Amino acid sequence: MTHPIRRIAICTGGGDAPGLNAVIRAVVLTAANRGWEGYGIRDGFNGILCPERYLEGGVFRLTEERVRGIGHLGGTILGTTSRGNPFHFPTRLADGSSGEVDRSDEILEYFARHELDALVSVGGDGSLTIADALHKKGLRVVGVPKTIDNDLDKTVTTFGFDTAVSFATECLDRLHSTAESHQRVLVVEVMGRYAGWIALHSGIAGNAHSILLPEIPFDLEPVVRQIRQRDEQGRMYSLVVVAEGAIPRHGHLELAAAAQGGHEQRLGGIGEHVAKQLQERTGKEARVVVLGHLLRGGSPTSFDRLAALRFGAAAVRALDQGLSGVMVALAFPNVNYVALADVAGRMKAVPMDSDTVQTARDLGICLGD
Ligand code: F6P
Repeated sequence: MTHPIRRIAICTGGGDAPGLNAVIRAVVLTAANRGWEGYGIRDGFNGILCPERYLEGGVFRLTEERVRGIGHLGGTILGTTSRGNPFHFPTRLADGSSGEVDRSDEILEYFARHELDALVSVGGDGSLTIADALHKKGLRVVGVPKTIDNDLDKTVTTFGFDTAVSFATECLDRLHSTAESHQRVLVVEVMGRYAGWIALHSGIAGNAHSILLPEIPFDLEPVVRQIRQRDEQGRMYSLVVVAEGAIPRHGHLELAAAAQGGHEQRLGGIGEHVAKQLQERTGKEARVVVLGHLLRGGSPTSFDRLAALRFGAAAVRALDQGLSGVMVALAFPNVNYVALADVAGRMKAVPMDSDTVQTARDLGICLGD
């Protein structure tokens, strides 16, 4: 039988997303309500693996006072990293080259030594895969699904996505008038990695005329046709939303940087490519706007704030019920728990038979196919 919980730790990993601080607040308050103490690990697991980096300690007490007034703030008070997988931790090898070592045992040892009874790991696919592996090594772990990309399986949505979509939609609203005034084609590149959720949802909500998704290898000919048709109808401008992971049917993924030294490959550049091609083919001036990290900033929307608070509270309830190796998931109208193993390493792409895709088509939005 496992011993009762008295102290839990929380960490945030991968790219930040609006709502992380709301999760932290909910975890700490829900734990305090049970008489448990909360601790924060800085920058993923770096607070444990590289404590020398932190003047005030790599792991610190999260009191109720410490999480006051943070629920509406973007970012994460714990810090985060996309380069701190304890199973493949970046290191300098004896010959001076960079490599990776498995330091996961140190995480378990730290928890045992400091009498931390469980971990709430808040993150996307990478962090939840690590959480699953730590659970399999014997740590009590509950995951919370975070990412603006909304590409995690087994949950209706992740927190952070709604804020990113809302901001991209507002940007599109603003771009309509300037595009129209100058009779331009404006290409808006949005994040989302290999999934088109942000592009599709913001593109529909923001009345884009074409939306290019990673899920549909695209051809620019239908986009060009649509721009010409709009011109003939006296609507002399067009907005094209392009997901950073969108790929031309006869082309390749555009990268801003290749994978290197523990960093994943960085997507980016497809917007520029599409704008250049459209300008050449239509003779109209085409410009690109890359929304990039703006999509990750700002206050969480009330939807994301509520989702994050519900997820955080549910994560602590899961631990209280003796669960481990699970992720909190949104299954409207409630939250439920799914096995981390069923989430780890599985990407949720936009399903082509979804009514949202059909809605785009019904509204006359060109999807480049
Ligand atoms: O996963 C979230 C995300 O913002 C992706 O949409 C994007 O491709 C990636 O992170 C960018 O990561 P970084 O800030 O590490 O370059």
